[in-house]
Amino acid sequence: MGSQLDALNQWVMDVARLTQPDRIHWCDGSDSEFAELVRGMEADGTLLPLNSETHPESWLHRSHPDDVARVEHLTFVCTSDREDAGPNNHWMSPSDAHAKMDALFAGCMRGRTMYVIPYCMGPIDSPLARCGVEITDSPYVVANMRIMTRMGAAALARIEREGRFVKGLHSIGELDPNRRFIMHFPEELTIQSYGSGYGGNALLGKKCHALRIASHQARNEGWLAEHMLILGVENPKGETHYIAAAFPSACGKTNLAMLIPPEGYRNAGWKVWTVGDDICWMRPGPDGRLYAINPEAGFFGVAPGTSEKSNPNALATIQRKTIFTNVGLTEDGQPWWEGLDDRKPAFDWRGNAYDFSGPAAHPNARFTVSARQCPSWSPKAEDAQGVPISAIVFGGRRASLVPLVFEARDWTHGVLVGAAMGSETTAAATGAVGVMRRDPMAMKPFCGYNFADYFAHWLSFDKPGANLPKIFHVNWFRKGTDGKFLWPGFGENLRVLEWMIDRVEGRASATDTPIGALPKADDLRLDGVALSDEARRVLFDFDRPGWQAEIDSLEDFLAEFGERVPDALKREQGRIAEELRAS
Ligand code: GDP
Ligand code: PGA
Ligand code: MN
Repeated sequence: MGSQLDALNQWVMDVARLTQPDRIHWCDGSDSEFAELVRGMEADGTLLPLNSETHPESWLHRSHPDDVARVEHLTFVCTSDREDAGPNNHWMSPSDAHAKMDALFAGCMRGRTMYVIPYCMGPIDSPLARCGVEITDSPYVVANMRIMTRMGAAALARIEREGRFVKGLHSIGELDPNRRFIMHFPEELTIQSYGSGYGGNALLGKKCHALRIASHQARNEGWLAEHMLILGVENPKGETHYIAAAFPSACGKTNLAMLIPPEGYRNAGWKVWTVGDDICWMRPGPDGRLYAINPEAGFFGVAPGTSEKSNPNALATIQRKTIFTNVGLTEDGQPWWEGLDDRKPAFDWRGNAYDFSGPAAHPNARFTVSARQCPSWSPKAEDAQGVPISAIVFGGRRASLVPLVFEARDWTHGVLVGAAMGSETTAAATGAVGVMRRDPMAMKPFCGYNFADYFAHWLSFDKPGANLPKIFHVNWFRKGTDGKFLWPGFGENLRVLEWMIDRVEGRASATDTPIGALPKADDLRLDGVALSDEARRVLFDFDRPGWQAEIDSLEDFLAEFGERVPDALKREQGRIAEELRAS
């Protein structure tokens, strides 16, 4: 009896011996524990209470100004064989990485409390869910983990039953960018993160566990851990199709997941249900379809650009019980960010009087909030078996070339479309913004193993008995000659989703091209959408010479992953290149 917890207890003792905390606190996830944590953080200035009339039980956290985004150059995958991490990851040998991290962690929690956070990613009773334990010295991390995961007693009980859990060790350290590393040891189901308090680096259940470690586990166990939102589209007949979509960070996942239908659709009875806004775990069910759960319990969304106009569901969600990170403040203590409204903030995200010289909120400012507060939260999001996926969508920010939507001809082609994904970089990670980079399946920063093996794993789902979703590609970000977006986006994106569902059900038409099935403007329901002549032409255009260059460069990109790239994928690229040259 108790042997499973013995392993956990032993690990906690080992960590305590290394990090030397003054106190150890086992988190139970209760309301009183949360209240106590908040009191402490209010007292030391980690959290500033916001205006309690407009934003009850909500706080502002200002991070260290050098610690505001994920640090991909300091993020490593430490496999015993370098090839297993692949050219898509920074690699360090497990022994070197452990030596480095042990030195950083030694004595780092002196004078601090060490929190032990048992958590479950996914509905607590779901066979698809997986557990972890994060040890951290940051109460801000504890408070965020409580919102983002199922944390506490129930998770601990599941760990005791299953024995297996992901071990995450985190310390904010000195918040020195030169002493900052995010290390993953997939073979040991271990994460070690030092020197950052920022979400993606410090909330280890999220990108570190639910994507990097989980993708590695998923490959061994025959499922998929993906950087995808999940939504349900309910038509006026009450039929719901679930769609999973992979867009790189800050390319519209949260917005699409919370879509509000255009007025005409609303009046006709269309509804959109939010199941998840960032991460999707899928596996084949008994009927051969892919079933998906959202492993998270909350949203860690980008604040700038969120408004009553762009995303009313998100705005409603964050009216109470929300932690804001790095937003500006109005005179009367309300959170503010660019794009919210016309008011002028009094303070910027660093806490200085706002001087109009730059943005008041950091471009990667975030809100952390329980998903249950979202008006469009799907009752199916708590379903242990997950939701059946009808369509998988890939997309990115592409100012040119890529049309509004097209459909892959089959699964293999769809995997190539995902592998070929490109997007302009955003503020979600440190580094230049607006640079086009390849980001296969939006997993470039998150795939915990060699991309070549990952592509092969994706292809492996196409087998007898499978009943796989159709795969599509979208681009909400095509720009016109005036440099403005050609497609209105947001709620209007439902028109594109409707076309996809009609394709799934064999209703809508499209034209076959070498890059896939492309609708004409008339194939979509565009009544009431103000589209310029340029938009009507360009959004549905197939630019053959442009695609020739794109598909040729894809060959070079695939070659970067060497021998391990599956032949089927190379053949698919060759087929399309050939079709583009012919005719
Ligand atoms: P996530 O990080 O992938 O969840 O991305 P978000 O949904 O938070 O959106 C990131 C940014 O893209 C925000 O500034 C949004 O306003 C913007 N955005 C989202 N959807 C659309 C869209 O359909 N069209 C345009 N033009 N911008 C969008
Ligand atoms: P996101 O990532 O931009 O995909 O929401 C969150 C993060 O930066 O950790
Ligand atoms: Mn998001």
